Amino acid sequence: MELPIGQKAHVEDIRGMIGLGEADLELFRKHREFFQRHGGALIDFIAGVVSGHPESARVFEEGRGDLESLKRRLGVWLGEILEAHATEQFWTRQLVIGLEHIQRRIPNRQMVGLATRIREVVLKLAIEDLGVEEGVELYLAFQRMLDSVVALTTTVVDEGYRRSLLEATGFTWELAERLEAMTLRSLKAELTGEDESGR
Ligand code: HEM
Repeated sequence: MELPIGQKAHVEDIRGMIGLGEADLELFRKHREFFQRHGGALIDFIAGVVSGHPESARVFEEGRGDLESLKRRLGVWLGEILEAHATEQFWTRQLVIGLEHIQRRIPNRQMVGLATRIREVVLKLAIEDLGVEEGVELYLAFQRMLDSVVALTTTVVDEGYRRSLLEATGFTWELAERLEAMTLRSLKAELTGEDESGR
């Protein structure tokens, strides 16, 4: 599966900034047993966070997702990561995971929030199980993986808004950008009490 040119540029941007690469995926392969030992607990933890937080629990109550299916699919994803190489197919797959969340109207703030909670658990487990040096090394690689998925999700959200705005209005991209700048200025004025010129 080839990435469209626009998406390819976003992936390159994220890959360059976060730095997830083959060395990280190699580390996951090396520590396969760590994930096999703790994968179940990690998945239960994630399911507990999203079903315990009222705003994200609503996703399941409103039928936008199924908790058992989420657990199963998280298991599949973790299994894939343990065999993955940093190919275009790998990045496309993570981008599709981002899309899965957008289609379910899961806001970016919840993606960021859950990533924070996951990090806390993975750091603790990794240090307890592997010791400080190896544990922190594995944790940092896992963090890059997690942040890549979150960054891809936020990217697809932006892309979705942009495309639907342009398609719905027939605006040029330049006009849409000018309107966005005006909206942001007025939001800032609302938040800060300054006038819209920023004074
Ligand atoms: C760091 C953030 C997150 C990561 C890494 C993550 C990861 C994943 C993965 C790997 C899948 C499976 C996708 C597939 O098989 O293609 C998935 C599905 C899903 N995720 Fe997340 N997720 C995150 C945040 C959230 C949050 C905040 C919610 C809020 C409720 C959520 C709800 C769901 C739902 C409902 C599904 C689909 C489950 C179904 O099959 O019905 N996720 N997620």
